[in-house]
Amino acid sequence: MHSSDFGKDFLWGVATAAAQIEGAANTHGKGPSIWDTFSKRSGKIKKGHHPTEACDFYHRYQEDVSLVKALGFTVFRFSIAWSRIFPLGNGALNNEGVLFYHHVIDECLQQGLVPMVTLYHWDLPEALSKEGGWTAYAINSVFNDYVLFCAKEYGEKVKHWIVINEPFGFTSLGYMLGVHAPGQTGVHNFFDAALHTAIAQADGAKILRAEVKDAIIGTAFSCSEIIPYTQSSQDLTAAKRVDVLMNRFFLEPVLGMGFPTADWEVLEKFSISHSTWRHQERMKFDFDFVGVQNYFPLVIKYNAFIPVVQAWEVKAKNRKVPHTAMGWEINADSFYRIIKQFAAYPQVKNIIVTENGAAFHDKVIDGKIDDPERTEYFKAYLAEMLKAKNEGVNITGYLAWTLMDNFEWAEGYQARFGIVHNDFKTQQRTIKQSGYWWQEFLSK
Ligand code: BGC
Repeated sequence: MHSSDFGKDFLWGVATAAAQIEGAANTHGKGPSIWDTFSKRSGKIKKGHHPTEACDFYHRYQEDVSLVKALGFTVFRFSIAWSRIFPLGNGALNNEGVLFYHHVIDECLQQGLVPMVTLYHWDLPEALSKEGGWTAYAINSVFNDYVLFCAKEYGEKVKHWIVINEPFGFTSLGYMLGVHAPGQTGVHNFFDAALHTAIAQADGAKILRAEVKDAIIGTAFSCSEIIPYTQSSQDLTAAKRVDVLMNRFFLEPVLGMGFPTADWEVLEKFSISHSTWRHQERMKFDFDFVGVQNYFPLVIKYNAFIPVVQAWEVKAKNRKVPHTAMGWEINADSFYRIIKQFAAYPQVKNIIVTENGAAFHDKVIDGKIDDPERTEYFKAYLAEMLKAKNEGVNITGYLAWTLMDNFEWAEGYQARFGIVHNDFKTQQRTIKQSGYWWQEFLSK
Protein backbone atom coordinates (compact mmCIF):
# COMPACT_ATOMS: atom_id res chain seq x y z
CA MET A 1 0.00 0.00 0.00
CA HIS A 2 1.29 3.41 -1.01
CA SER A 3 -0.17 6.84 -0.37
CA SER A 4 -0.56 7.20 -4.16
CA ASP A 5 -3.13 4.36 -4.07
CA PHE A 6 -5.50 6.91 -2.56
CA GLY A 7 -5.28 9.25 -5.54
CA LYS A 8 -3.17 12.29 -6.19
CA ASP A 9 -5.48 14.88 -4.67
CA PHE A 10 -6.02 12.97 -1.43
CA LEU A 11 -5.42 15.18 1.60
CA TRP A 12 -2.90 13.81 4.09
CA GLY A 13 -2.49 15.65 7.33
CA VAL A 14 -2.03 15.70 11.05
CA ALA A 15 -4.58 17.08 13.47
CA THR A 16 -3.98 19.05 16.66
CA ALA A 17 -6.00 21.21 19.06
CA ALA A 18 -5.14 24.52 20.72
CA ALA A 19 -5.61 23.56 24.38
CA GLN A 20 -3.56 20.41 23.85
CA ILE A 21 -0.47 22.03 22.32
CA GLU A 22 -0.32 25.81 22.60
CA GLY A 23 0.54 26.53 26.22
CA ALA A 24 0.82 30.28 26.95
CA ALA A 25 -2.53 29.68 28.61
CA ASN A 26 -2.48 32.68 30.96
CA THR A 27 -0.17 34.96 29.07
CA HIS A 28 -0.05 37.04 25.90
CA GLY A 29 -3.55 38.32 26.55
CA LYS A 30 -5.34 35.00 26.52
CA GLY A 31 -8.35 34.62 28.79
CA PRO A 32 -8.85 31.42 30.76
CA SER A 33 -10.72 28.57 29.11
CA ILE A 34 -12.75 25.94 30.93
CA TRP A 35 -9.77 23.58 30.66
CA ASP A 36 -7.52 26.06 32.47
CA THR A 37 -9.95 26.25 35.38
CA PHE A 38 -11.02 22.60 35.31
CA SER A 39 -7.40 21.46 35.55
CA LYS A 40 -7.03 23.39 38.80
CA ARG A 41 -9.76 21.29 40.43
CA SER A 42 -8.18 18.58 42.47
CA GLY A 43 -8.34 15.06 41.12
CA LYS A 44 -9.79 16.01 37.75
CA ILE A 45 -6.65 15.50 35.66
CA LYS A 46 -4.27 12.60 36.19
CA LYS A 47 -1.18 13.54 38.19
CA GLY A 48 -2.51 17.09 38.57
CA HIS A 49 -1.33 17.98 35.06
CA HIS A 50 -2.60 21.16 33.42
CA PRO A 51 -2.43 22.71 29.95
CA THR A 52 -0.54 25.85 31.03
CA GLU A 53 2.57 25.08 28.99
CA ALA A 54 1.56 22.03 26.98
CA CYS A 55 3.93 21.75 23.98
CA ASP A 56 4.63 25.49 23.95
CA PHE A 57 3.41 25.55 20.36
CA TYR A 58 2.66 29.23 20.91
CA HIS A 59 6.39 29.92 20.71
CA ARG A 60 7.47 26.94 18.63
CA TYR A 61 4.89 26.89 15.85
CA GLN A 62 7.48 27.49 13.13
CA GLU A 63 9.49 24.45 14.14
CA ASP A 64 6.30 22.38 14.42
CA VAL A 65 4.86 23.42 11.08
CA SER A 66 8.27 22.60 9.56
CA LEU A 67 8.01 19.13 11.09
CA VAL A 68 4.62 18.57 9.47
CA LYS A 69 6.16 19.55 6.17
CA ALA A 70 9.28 17.45 6.69
CA LEU A 71 7.16 14.37 7.40
CA GLY A 72 5.53 14.81 4.03
CA PHE A 73 2.00 15.81 5.02
CA THR A 74 0.08 18.40 3.05
CA VAL A 75 -2.48 19.49 5.64
CA PHE A 76 -2.03 20.92 9.12
CA ARG A 77 -5.19 20.93 11.21
CA PHE A 78 -5.18 23.14 14.29
CA SER A 79 -7.83 24.91 16.31
CA ILE A 80 -8.35 28.48 17.38
CA ALA A 81 -8.56 29.06 21.12
CA TRP A 82 -11.67 31.21 21.41
CA SER A 83 -10.37 32.89 24.58
CA ARG A 84 -7.11 33.85 22.87
CA ILE A 85 -9.14 35.95 20.43
CA PHE A 86 -11.85 37.08 22.83
CA PRO A 87 -10.50 36.67 26.38
CA LEU A 88 -14.01 36.92 27.79
CA GLY A 89 -15.70 35.09 24.94
CA ASN A 90 -17.06 38.25 23.35
CA GLY A 91 -16.46 41.98 23.45
CA ALA A 92 -12.84 43.04 23.87
CA LEU A 93 -10.39 41.59 21.41
CA ASN A 94 -6.86 40.36 22.11
CA ASN A 95 -4.90 41.61 19.12
CA GLU A 96 -1.85 39.56 19.93
CA GLY A 97 -3.97 36.41 19.78
CA VAL A 98 -5.50 37.44 16.48
CA LEU A 99 -2.00 37.94 15.07
CA PHE A 100 -0.77 34.65 16.41
CA TYR A 101 -3.17 32.68 14.21
CA HIS A 102 -2.19 34.83 11.22
CA HIS A 103 1.39 33.78 11.87
CA VAL A 104 0.50 30.09 12.07
CA ILE A 105 -1.61 30.30 8.90
CA ASP A 106 1.11 32.24 7.05
CA GLU A 107 3.71 29.72 8.13
CA CYS A 108 1.58 26.89 6.71
CA LEU A 109 1.02 28.73 3.45
CA GLN A 110 4.68 29.63 3.08
CA GLN A 111 5.62 25.98 3.56
CA GLY A 112 3.01 24.88 1.04
CA LEU A 113 0.70 23.30 3.63
CA VAL A 114 -3.07 23.60 3.66
CA PRO A 115 -4.24 25.09 6.96
CA MET A 116 -7.41 23.40 8.21
CA VAL A 117 -8.93 25.33 11.07
CA THR A 118 -11.22 24.00 13.78
CA LEU A 119 -13.29 26.73 15.35
CA TYR A 120 -14.22 24.89 18.51
CA HIS A 121 -12.10 22.13 20.01
CA TRP A 122 -13.50 22.07 23.56
CA ASP A 123 -11.83 25.12 25.14
CA LEU A 124 -14.80 27.35 25.89
CA PRO A 125 -13.88 30.73 27.43
CA GLU A 126 -14.36 30.42 31.18
CA ALA A 127 -16.28 33.70 31.27
CA LEU A 128 -18.97 32.15 29.06
CA SER A 129 -19.08 29.00 31.14
CA LYS A 130 -19.95 31.10 34.18
CA GLU A 131 -23.04 32.20 32.27
CA GLY A 132 -24.11 28.62 31.59
CA GLY A 133 -21.76 27.79 28.70
CA TRP A 134 -23.23 25.32 26.24
CA THR A 135 -26.27 24.71 28.44
CA ALA A 136 -27.50 28.28 27.90
CA TYR A 137 -29.25 29.35 24.73
CA ALA A 138 -27.29 32.64 24.88
CA ILE A 139 -24.19 30.72 23.79
CA ASN A 140 -25.49 30.58 20.25
CA SER A 141 -25.30 34.26 19.52
CA VAL A 142 -21.82 34.70 21.03
CA PHE A 143 -20.56 31.64 19.18
CA ASN A 144 -21.89 33.13 15.96
CA ASP A 145 -20.10 36.42 16.66
CA TYR A 146 -16.87 34.55 17.23
CA VAL A 147 -17.28 32.56 14.02
CA LEU A 148 -18.10 35.69 12.05
CA PHE A 149 -14.98 37.35 13.37
CA CYS A 150 -12.76 34.40 12.41
CA ALA A 151 -14.36 34.06 8.99
CA LYS A 152 -13.76 37.72 8.18
CA GLU A 153 -10.29 37.79 9.71
CA TYR A 154 -8.84 34.58 8.27
CA GLY A 155 -11.21 33.68 5.41
CA GLU A 156 -8.98 35.13 2.70
CA LYS A 157 -6.25 32.68 3.63
CA VAL A 158 -8.07 29.70 5.14
CA LYS A 159 -10.43 27.68 2.97
CA HIS A 160 -10.75 24.44 4.97
CA TRP A 161 -12.86 24.77 8.10
CA ILE A 162 -14.20 22.45 10.77
CA VAL A 163 -16.92 24.08 12.82
CA ILE A 164 -17.02 21.85 15.90
CA ASN A 165 -14.87 19.00 17.07
CA GLU A 166 -16.81 15.99 18.33
CA PRO A 167 -20.05 17.42 19.66
CA PHE A 168 -20.87 14.14 21.40
CA GLY A 169 -17.41 13.98 22.98
CA PHE A 170 -17.47 17.25 24.85
CA THR A 171 -21.19 17.39 25.66
CA SER A 172 -21.23 13.88 27.13
CA LEU A 173 -17.89 13.97 28.95
CA GLY A 174 -18.18 17.60 30.04
CA TYR A 175 -21.88 18.09 30.74
CA MET A 176 -23.22 14.62 31.57
CA LEU A 177 -20.39 12.62 33.11
CA GLY A 178 -18.36 15.51 34.51
CA VAL A 179 -15.00 13.96 33.64
CA HIS A 180 -14.06 16.71 31.18
CA ALA A 181 -14.38 20.46 31.53
CA PRO A 182 -16.53 22.11 32.73
CA GLY A 183 -17.25 19.08 34.93
CA GLN A 184 -21.03 19.28 34.94
CA THR A 185 -23.23 16.25 35.33
CA GLY A 186 -26.76 15.22 34.58
CA VAL A 187 -28.84 14.23 31.62
CA HIS A 188 -30.60 17.59 31.43
CA ASN A 189 -27.32 19.47 31.19
CA PHE A 190 -26.28 17.11 28.44
CA PHE A 191 -29.45 17.55 26.40
CA ASP A 192 -29.37 21.33 26.77
CA ALA A 193 -25.72 21.47 25.74
CA ALA A 194 -26.41 19.06 22.89
CA LEU A 195 -29.22 21.13 21.49
CA HIS A 196 -27.20 24.36 21.51
CA THR A 197 -24.21 22.58 20.03
CA ALA A 198 -26.29 21.14 17.21
CA ILE A 199 -27.56 24.62 16.45
CA ALA A 200 -24.07 26.15 16.67
CA GLN A 201 -22.69 23.58 14.27
CA ALA A 202 -25.06 24.59 11.50
CA ASP A 203 -25.14 28.30 12.33
CA GLY A 204 -21.34 28.43 12.21
CA ALA A 205 -21.28 26.66 8.86
CA LYS A 206 -23.82 29.07 7.40
CA ILE A 207 -21.73 32.03 8.51
CA LEU A 208 -18.63 30.55 6.89
CA ARG A 209 -20.57 29.89 3.70
CA ALA A 210 -21.73 33.51 3.56
CA GLU A 211 -18.39 35.06 4.44
CA VAL A 212 -15.65 32.90 2.98
CA LYS A 213 -15.29 32.64 -0.75
CA ASP A 214 -14.59 29.05 -1.90
CA ALA A 215 -14.78 27.70 1.64
CA ILE A 216 -14.68 23.93 2.13
CA ILE A 217 -16.73 23.44 5.26
CA GLY A 218 -16.95 20.42 7.50
CA THR A 219 -17.63 19.44 11.07
CA ALA A 220 -16.09 16.52 12.92
CA PHE A 221 -17.98 13.65 14.56
CA SER A 222 -16.64 11.04 16.92
CA CYS A 223 -17.94 7.61 16.06
CA SER A 224 -17.53 3.98 17.05
CA GLU A 225 -18.99 0.83 15.63
CA ILE A 226 -21.34 -0.50 18.31
CA ILE A 227 -21.21 -4.25 18.70
CA PRO A 228 -23.82 -6.01 20.90
CA TYR A 229 -22.19 -8.32 23.45
CA THR A 230 -24.65 -11.12 22.65
CA GLN A 231 -27.55 -11.48 20.27
CA SER A 232 -30.05 -11.32 23.16
CA SER A 233 -32.80 -8.80 22.52
CA GLN A 234 -31.73 -6.84 25.60
CA ASP A 235 -28.14 -6.50 24.38
CA LEU A 236 -29.32 -5.68 20.88
CA THR A 237 -31.58 -2.86 22.02
CA ALA A 238 -28.95 -1.55 24.45
CA ALA A 239 -26.46 -1.44 21.57
CA LYS A 240 -28.99 0.37 19.43
CA ARG A 241 -29.46 3.07 22.09
CA VAL A 242 -25.72 3.62 22.30
CA ASP A 243 -25.53 3.82 18.52
CA VAL A 244 -28.27 6.47 18.54
CA LEU A 245 -26.36 8.53 21.08
CA MET A 246 -22.80 8.10 19.87
CA ASN A 247 -23.13 7.91 16.11
CA ARG A 248 -26.45 9.39 15.04
CA PHE A 249 -27.41 12.00 17.58
CA PHE A 250 -25.44 14.93 16.15
CA LEU A 251 -25.14 13.78 12.56
CA GLU A 252 -28.80 13.29 11.70
CA PRO A 253 -29.98 16.82 12.60
CA VAL A 254 -27.30 18.18 10.26
CA LEU A 255 -28.61 15.97 7.49
CA GLY A 256 -32.10 17.35 8.01
CA MET A 257 -33.43 14.27 9.81
CA GLY A 258 -33.81 15.83 13.26
CA PHE A 259 -32.64 14.03 16.42
CA PRO A 260 -33.16 10.28 16.14
CA THR A 261 -36.07 10.20 18.59
CA ALA A 262 -38.01 7.57 16.68
CA ASP A 263 -35.41 4.96 17.57
CA TRP A 264 -35.33 5.73 21.25
CA GLU A 265 -38.50 6.90 22.94
CA VAL A 266 -36.68 8.08 26.06
CA LEU A 267 -35.38 11.06 24.12
CA GLU A 268 -38.93 12.36 23.97
CA LYS A 269 -38.94 12.73 27.74
CA PHE A 270 -36.18 15.27 27.53
CA SER A 271 -38.23 17.39 25.15
CA ILE A 272 -35.75 16.61 22.44
CA SER A 273 -38.49 15.96 19.94
CA HIS A 274 -40.08 19.30 20.71
CA SER A 275 -36.75 21.05 20.28
CA THR A 276 -36.23 19.19 17.03
CA TRP A 277 -39.47 20.45 15.72
CA ARG A 278 -38.57 24.03 16.66
CA HIS A 279 -35.01 23.97 15.41
CA GLN A 280 -34.98 21.32 12.72
CA GLU A 281 -34.37 23.73 9.86
CA ARG A 282 -31.74 25.62 11.80
CA MET A 283 -29.71 22.50 12.63
CA LYS A 284 -29.43 21.50 9.00
CA PHE A 285 -26.49 22.28 6.72
CA ASP A 286 -25.16 20.82 3.52
CA PHE A 287 -21.56 20.27 4.63
CA ASP A 288 -18.86 19.95 1.98
CA PHE A 289 -17.39 17.15 4.03
CA VAL A 290 -18.27 15.15 7.08
CA GLY A 291 -15.32 14.66 9.42
CA VAL A 292 -15.18 11.11 10.75
CA GLN A 293 -13.08 10.54 13.88
CA ASN A 294 -12.68 6.97 14.92
CA TYR A 295 -10.42 5.26 17.41
CA PHE A 296 -12.16 2.03 18.54
CA PRO A 297 -15.39 0.03 18.45
CA LEU A 298 -17.49 -0.53 21.57
CA VAL A 299 -18.97 -3.79 22.77
CA ILE A 300 -22.22 -3.08 24.60
CA LYS A 301 -24.21 -5.11 27.10
CA TYR A 302 -27.56 -4.37 28.68
CA ASN A 303 -27.32 -3.07 32.24
CA ALA A 304 -30.47 -2.02 34.11
CA PHE A 305 -28.47 -0.05 36.70
CA ILE A 306 -27.16 2.54 34.28
CA PRO A 307 -29.58 5.46 34.14
CA VAL A 308 -31.24 6.39 30.86
CA VAL A 309 -29.11 4.41 28.46
CA GLN A 310 -29.21 1.11 30.42
CA ALA A 311 -26.10 -0.05 28.68
CA TRP A 312 -22.58 -0.89 29.71
CA GLU A 313 -19.31 -1.20 27.85
CA VAL A 314 -17.52 -4.54 28.03
CA LYS A 315 -13.93 -3.34 28.05
CA ALA A 316 -11.36 -4.62 25.57
CA LYS A 317 -9.04 -5.84 28.32
CA ASN A 318 -11.81 -7.96 29.87
CA ARG A 319 -12.46 -9.48 26.48
CA LYS A 320 -8.70 -10.03 26.13
CA VAL A 321 -8.49 -8.41 22.71
CA PRO A 322 -5.63 -6.15 21.55
CA HIS A 323 -5.91 -2.64 22.91
CA THR A 324 -3.96 0.61 23.15
CA ALA A 325 -2.51 2.28 26.25
CA MET A 326 -5.90 3.95 26.66
CA GLY A 327 -7.54 0.52 26.84
CA TRP A 328 -9.20 1.13 23.47
CA GLU A 329 -9.72 -1.90 21.27
CA ILE A 330 -7.54 -2.06 18.16
CA ASN A 331 -9.88 -3.20 15.42
CA ALA A 332 -9.28 -1.89 11.92
CA ASP A 333 -12.27 -3.77 10.41
CA SER A 334 -14.56 -1.77 12.62
CA PHE A 335 -13.06 1.41 11.16
CA TYR A 336 -14.13 0.17 7.73
CA ARG A 337 -17.64 -0.61 9.00
CA ILE A 338 -18.19 2.75 10.70
CA ILE A 339 -17.01 4.57 7.57
CA LYS A 340 -19.58 2.55 5.62
CA GLN A 341 -22.23 3.36 8.20
CA PHE A 342 -21.64 7.09 7.76
CA ALA A 343 -21.34 6.81 3.99
CA ALA A 344 -24.70 5.03 3.80
CA TYR A 345 -26.57 8.31 4.36
CA PRO A 346 -27.24 9.65 0.87
CA GLN A 347 -26.77 13.21 2.15
CA VAL A 348 -23.15 12.47 3.18
CA LYS A 349 -21.35 13.25 -0.03
CA ASN A 350 -17.77 13.43 1.09
CA ILE A 351 -15.90 12.04 4.09
CA ILE A 352 -12.59 13.20 5.48
CA VAL A 353 -11.17 11.15 8.34
CA THR A 354 -10.30 14.14 10.49
CA GLU A 355 -8.76 12.08 13.34
CA ASN A 356 -7.50 8.56 13.89
CA GLY A 357 -4.55 7.31 15.91
CA ALA A 358 -3.44 5.56 19.06
CA ALA A 359 -1.59 5.98 22.35
CA PHE A 360 1.05 3.44 23.32
CA HIS A 361 3.80 3.12 25.90
CA ASP A 362 6.62 4.06 23.57
CA LYS A 363 10.08 2.68 24.25
CA VAL A 364 13.48 4.21 23.65
CA ILE A 365 15.76 1.69 21.95
CA ASP A 366 19.26 2.77 20.86
CA GLY A 367 18.26 6.39 21.13
CA LYS A 368 15.23 5.86 18.87
CA ILE A 369 11.63 6.15 19.95
CA ASP A 370 10.41 2.75 18.98
CA ASP A 371 6.64 2.46 18.55
CA PRO A 372 5.95 -0.47 16.25
CA GLU A 373 2.39 -0.85 17.56
CA ARG A 374 1.50 2.65 16.37
CA THR A 375 2.91 1.97 12.90
CA GLU A 376 0.97 -1.29 12.72
CA TYR A 377 -2.16 0.50 13.87
CA PHE A 378 -1.87 3.10 11.11
CA LYS A 379 -1.09 0.49 8.45
CA ALA A 380 -4.09 -1.63 9.37
CA TYR A 381 -6.51 1.30 9.64
CA LEU A 382 -5.33 2.85 6.38
CA ALA A 383 -5.76 -0.47 4.57
CA GLU A 384 -9.39 -0.64 5.73
CA MET A 385 -9.98 2.95 4.69
CA LEU A 386 -8.57 2.13 1.25
CA LYS A 387 -10.93 -0.83 1.04
CA ALA A 388 -13.90 1.46 1.70
CA LYS A 389 -12.60 3.98 -0.80
CA ASN A 390 -12.10 1.33 -3.47
CA GLU A 391 -15.68 0.21 -2.89
CA GLY A 392 -16.81 3.67 -3.90
CA VAL A 393 -16.99 5.63 -0.64
CA ASN A 394 -15.99 9.20 -1.40
CA ILE A 395 -13.16 9.64 1.13
CA THR A 396 -10.94 12.55 0.22
CA GLY A 397 -8.58 12.91 3.14
CA TYR A 398 -7.08 11.43 6.29
CA LEU A 399 -5.57 13.26 9.25
CA ALA A 400 -3.54 11.34 11.81
CA TRP A 401 -4.04 12.10 15.47
CA THR A 402 -1.60 13.56 16.28
CA LEU A 403 1.55 15.43 15.36
CA MET A 404 3.20 15.24 18.78
CA ASP A 405 2.55 13.97 22.29
CA ASN A 406 0.43 16.57 24.03
CA PHE A 407 -2.01 17.40 26.80
CA GLU A 408 -4.47 14.53 26.51
CA TRP A 409 -7.34 16.14 28.46
CA ALA A 410 -8.18 14.25 31.67
CA GLU A 411 -5.26 11.86 31.03
CA GLY A 412 -2.79 14.73 31.28
CA TYR A 413 0.58 14.22 29.60
CA GLN A 414 0.77 10.49 30.22
CA ALA A 415 -1.17 9.29 27.21
CA ARG A 416 1.07 9.74 24.20
CA PHE A 417 -0.61 9.81 20.80
CA GLY A 418 2.09 11.64 18.81
CA ILE A 419 4.07 10.45 15.82
CA VAL A 420 6.64 12.86 17.24
CA HIS A 421 7.76 12.43 20.83
CA ASN A 422 7.78 15.47 23.05
CA ASP A 423 9.90 15.85 26.15
CA PHE A 424 7.73 18.12 28.27
CA LYS A 425 10.68 19.28 30.38
CA THR A 426 12.81 20.49 27.52
CA GLN A 427 10.17 20.72 24.76
CA GLN A 428 12.52 18.68 22.62
CA ARG A 429 10.70 17.06 19.68
CA THR A 430 11.95 13.68 18.42
CA ILE A 431 10.41 11.94 15.45
CA LYS A 432 9.21 8.48 16.44
CA GLN A 433 9.70 5.45 14.20
CA SER A 434 6.01 5.74 13.27
CA GLY A 435 6.73 9.30 12.11
CA TYR A 436 9.50 7.98 9.86
CA TRP A 437 7.10 5.33 8.62
CA TRP A 438 4.66 8.11 7.64
CA GLN A 439 7.45 9.99 5.88
CA GLU A 440 8.30 6.93 3.82
CA PHE A 441 4.63 6.11 3.15
CA LEU A 442 3.87 9.63 1.96
CA SER A 443 6.85 9.69 -0.36
CA LYS A 444 5.38 6.95 -2.59
C1 BGC B 1 -10.26 14.42 20.39
C2 BGC B 1 -8.81 14.76 20.65
C3 BGC B 1 -8.22 13.71 21.58
C4 BGC B 1 -8.27 12.37 20.88
C5 BGC B 1 -7.66 11.22 21.67
C6 BGC B 1 -10.51 12.96 20.13
O1 BGC B 1 -11.66 12.59 20.75
O2 BGC B 1 -10.78 15.23 19.37
O3 BGC B 1 -8.74 16.04 21.17
O4 BGC B 1 -6.95 14.01 22.03
O5 BGC B 1 -9.60 12.05 20.63
O6 BGC B 1 -8.33 11.02 22.86
